[in-house]
Amino acid sequence: MNKVITLLFISVLCIQCNTQVNPDSVNKPHGVIAKKAMVVSARQEASKIGVDIMKQGGNAFDAMIATDLALLVSYPVAGNIGGGGFMVFRMKDGTTGSLDFREKAPIEATKDMYLDEDGNVNSDTSKLGALAVGIPGTIAGLFEVHKKFGSLPFEKLIDPAIKLANNGVVVTKKQAESLNQNKQNFRKANKRTILLDKDWEAGDTIKYPKLVETLKRIKTNGRDEFYKGKTADILVEQVQKLGGIITKEDLANYEAQWRDPITFMYKGHKIISMPPPSSGGICIAQILKSIAPYNIEQYAHNSTEYIQLIVEAERRAYADRSYFLGDPDFVNIPTDSLMSEHYLSKRMADFDWEKATQSSTLSRGSIPGYESDETTHYSIVDPFGNSLAVTTTLNAAYGSKVYVENGGFFLNNEMDDFSAKPGEPNMYGLVGADANAIAPQKRMLSSMSPTIIEVNGQLKMVLGSPGGSTIITSVMQNILNVIEYDMSMQESVSKPRFHHQWFPDNIKFETTFDTVVFNSLKKLGYAIDHTNSPIIGKVDAILVLPNGNLEGGADPRGDDTAVGF
Ligand code: DON
Repeated sequence: MNKVITLLFISVLCIQCNTQVNPDSVNKPHGVIAKKAMVVSARQEASKIGVDIMKQGGNAFDAMIATDLALLVSYPVAGNIGGGGFMVFRMKDGTTGSLDFREKAPIEATKDMYLDEDGNVNSDTSKLGALAVGIPGTIAGLFEVHKKFGSLPFEKLIDPAIKLANNGVVVTKKQAESLNQNKQNFRKANKRTILLDKDWEAGDTIKYPKLVETLKRIKTNGRDEFYKGKTADILVEQVQKLGGIITKEDLANYEAQWRDPITFMYKGHKIISMPPPSSGGICIAQILKSIAPYNIEQYAHNSTEYIQLIVEAERRAYADRSYFLGDPDFVNIPTDSLMSEHYLSKRMADFDWEKATQSSTLSRGSIPGYESDETTHYSIVDPFGNSLAVTTTLNAAYGSKVYVENGGFFLNNEMDDFSAKPGEPNMYGLVGADANAIAPQKRMLSSMSPTIIEVNGQLKMVLGSPGGSTIITSVMQNILNVIEYDMSMQESVSKPRFHHQWFPDNIKFETTFDTVVFNSLKKLGYAIDHTNSPIIGKVDAILVLPNGNLEGGADPRGDDTAVGF
């Protein structure tokens, strides 16, 4: 049944797309194929806007800026200027890098700010309302990208988003459901009704007049408009009125950071992914390098053995994540040791094919000498051969739900990604320790994993996903789908997924996952959660085909669309 739905979906996609060329090298079900350039994102409008910029001569970085701002308008659940994100890039000459425009804790933040008098976590305040908001990084990120790599004027890149916000965006069925579900929370966080607080139906149009004004001011005044100008005033006023602690000093101090990506080899493939403050690159490296000696391709895809091996590697990687990882500007992370083959083979030494390891008996590994429901991803390849992967977020759906009414945008609730108290789970059930404790100006640990893969010095794949803690395992499964199981990009992103994160000690399966393996896994001692995660991740990816064409994988779990030319 799943296969039928997937194939149907793929055929519909291919029929709808007029940019498709004859896929001479693909004789399996596939997604949109293009010769030169492609954008795969959560909304058709955003993918088209990014592609239009490249048709006008812009490069992948220009397309990123235009796509990102178009997602702000067309995908308010996660697209943002009130949040943050990460970009991993690979230039046509093979140079790689990454940009961290992750939110930071405000100067007035304290380690115990989400604990009550008895030291218990007050779980609501880190998730809903103004106290949950971290200092946004997106506008700093986009201007940083433009300064270093942009080739078209910024004005040209922001114009399509202004036009979209002015003319309005048509609400899809999934969007209407998501907006309607969040109505109560919008009211609770804002203490009044907001622009989006209506009963929405598919086909309605949303216009954003205040956002048009904000974007026009940014177009005229540049980066400083958001961090020091009228938009900064509006943002701080709104946050403080609702009991938040962000000040103008916080905004004025914010800087995006260029960082060296995490790179490692997996079976002849060079994987380039996001370094801390994301846990993504290190965890994907740990999982793939832990399973590499077992030659996973000998087991059928999504079979009991396949799931077992991956789950045991995931369990160990997430236990390490919880203890060792945090903002590298604040904590010392033993990156090389965590990714070393020697360390990982020791970590896997007690893996037993006959019996599940219990997470309660497993903690972080020992490192000798060591001292111490919503995000969005898009992938871009340009006609020059540059590629980039961007994951950006407000954290939960619509972030803190605080809507800067006079600015026309939502603010994140990224503060919940910190560990409010050691051992206490956050909204993704992730537990953390001191490395990810709250401190003023610190960045909270992330799972976002924008990733690029090359083989023999050539670009092979660009991918990433939303999904909180499940991002890492979603990205990792798609790497295996293509490298080990030779799937097309579209087939890969459409496949059912599973996830384990140390605690809670169970394997989450998507509701579409074939239940045939559940009994054998239960017999081996694995707990199954098949009801709480209808979907795991939403992967938008691009695969370079043997003949050089690009194949888009647009995740059918959302309204995601690949557009190319
Ligand atoms: O940075 C992180 O890991 C989370 N804030 C990402 C949130 C997310 O992916 C939610 N999407 N479904």
